[in-house]
Amino acid sequence: MALFERFAPLMHAHDAVKAAGTDPFGVRMDRVLSPTEAVIKGRRTLLAGTNNYLGLTFDSGCIAAARSAMETFGTGTTGSSIANGSYGGHRALERALAEFFDREHGMVFSTGYQANLGIISTVAGPKDYLIIDADCHASIYDACKLSSATVIRARHNDPADLDKRLQRLAEQPGDKVIVTEGIYSMLGDQAPLAEIAEVKRRHGAYLVVDEAHSLGVLGETGRGLAQAAGVEADVDFVVGTFSKSLGAVGGFCVSNHPDFEVLRIVCRPYMFTASLPPSVIASVRAALETVARRPDLRHRLWRNIGTLYDALERRGFLLGPQKGPVVAVRLPSPEMAIHLWQALLNAGVYVNLALPPATPSGEPLLRCSVCAAHTTEQLRHMVDVLTDIAYDAGLLEPQMRAAAG
Ligand SMILES: Cc1ncc(COP(=O)(O)O)c(C=O)c1O
Repeated sequence: MALFERFAPLMHAHDAVKAAGTDPFGVRMDRVLSPTEAVIKGRRTLLAGTNNYLGLTFDSGCIAAARSAMETFGTGTTGSSIANGSYGGHRALERALAEFFDREHGMVFSTGYQANLGIISTVAGPKDYLIIDADCHASIYDACKLSSATVIRARHNDPADLDKRLQRLAEQPGDKVIVTEGIYSMLGDQAPLAEIAEVKRRHGAYLVVDEAHSLGVLGETGRGLAQAAGVEADVDFVVGTFSKSLGAVGGFCVSNHPDFEVLRIVCRPYMFTASLPPSVIASVRAALETVARRPDLRHRLWRNIGTLYDALERRGFLLGPQKGPVVAVRLPSPEMAIHLWQALLNAGVYVNLALPPATPSGEPLLRCSVCAAHTTEQLRHMVDVLTDIAYDAGLLEPQMRAAAG
């Protein structure tokens, strides 16, 4: 059998998607003009699919900090955190993260993917159980593959199902570790964290929450869903990424677990990869300070979320169940999703195309992400363009076109 023959159905499906125009999974930005605009295929394009929730990618403080660190410390560490890759900035960021989350310990990883891979695969051992939400991100699924624990999938956002599964394990001696996300990355819905925390307490389990999409977005000081739900004390390990609200790349975990520091010498995705470049560390430190100092960014983001979600809903689009920085437009078929995505890009609007099996419940989605830096005019323009395209494609009822935007 030829080496990649098993991918033939996927390659054919990808060819069909590409035949419609631009490859949605291979978009190239010629230039990035700001957090909300780039040049794609020679055209000035509105960015509404970048996870740049607070618009910090062009923050002057972050850029100055990164530039200065690069000039002082060079372009990269060229080594792992446990060898030559821990500089003063790395430790300072870990302390800053711990302080931001009001935790004892913090640990920085090279990506959010690796943070999940490392923490989830290491906290649960061979006699333990990982109980993950079915809609968890690929990094959490991959962590389960790397782990020696028994993995159980609980129904999405269903504390009763979680409770039932933990009840079945009641007589088993191993530790039970529940894994959820704060805001789910595809549909933008939030975990019912207060109820999950209640189940966790009842069964004496541990709780890991991936706040990738909720850091800087939810909670009084931007700590995420656990803060917003008032259950931070029940979350044993907070995992997150620097690649969304913090506008850079990297991942982290914070915790109060007394033996947390042992992870530095047992957690393979931390130990066996190079640490982040000093410039990235410096820009993330500046971004974290900005999140703490500027709640107005979060407030602006939420105003923009309301503007986009309400306008799309009024026009008759079927959306994800909850308002948040991820606004998912649910579509009836992959063909419709691909057509709308291509037409949007041709009209100068970039969003993410998400196709089954990478989406929950097999639904094709246009995944839009909102940025604090979007102007109301940009969001209204995007809604108008999408409405026109959806109307022409027969997705929306004619009377919806005229609905107030
Ligand atoms: C929920 C969730 N966790 C983790 C990650 C991985 O983050 P990173 O891009 O830093 O690897 C993502 C990325 O999309 C995500 O959506």
